[in-house]
Amino acid sequence: MTLQLGDTAPDFTAETTDGEVRFHQWLGDQWGVLFSHPKDFTPVCTTELGETARLKEHFARRNTKVIGLSVDPVESHRRWEADIEETQGQAVNFPVIADPDHTVANLYGMIHPNASDTTTVRSVYVIDPSKKVRLTITYPASTGRNFNEILRVLDSLQLTDTYSVSTPVNWTDGDDVIISPAIPDDEARERFPKGFTTLKPYLRVTPQPNR
Ligand code: BEZ
Repeated sequence: MTLQLGDTAPDFTAETTDGEVRFHQWLGDQWGVLFSHPKDFTPVCTTELGETARLKEHFARRNTKVIGLSVDPVESHRRWEADIEETQGQAVNFPVIADPDHTVANLYGMIHPNASDTTTVRSVYVIDPSKKVRLTITYPASTGRNFNEILRVLDSLQLTDTYSVSTPVNWTDGDDVIISPAIPDDEARERFPKGFTTLKPYLRVTPQPNR
């Protein structure tokens, strides 16, 4: 069954490069990003793991833990991580799940048989502190992901969970946001003291409230 937004992220216990991980316990009360790679020792994946490791502090600032997955065993991950450090100039600093029997891949629907019966596609799941799935993205094996986009979505989710706003096209942290159409103007004036611009009754724009 396909995982949908709002579903509880399936729990699992798996071997990783940092030892055994019980997923929900490992997440604790933080946000999580779980992402899959088709295979070890593949070029695009090599660049993705290096870049994700480089962004560790950016994820930490968003109270977010990162964990990767590929279907190869831990010993293979370890050998590959040496190549990643050598070629990307950055050591992998987060756990990578070994999923040779596809237990986790099947729980999350990471294997798309029309692409491959044996390797995962490039899936990303953002999971909130209540363990709900808040974002799913699926890329083909041939296309490396943009991890700045994952950071951007985390910013949006964490902002919109706190304020009655949504974030417009191409929004990045610090840009103006949209006031929920469910909030009447007089309430909006109280909630958004910096003021707002009404472009249409359903499209009211205000400076980012926590800036
Ligand atoms: C890669 O990471 O480069 C890759 C993996 C599987 C298929 C195609 C490319």
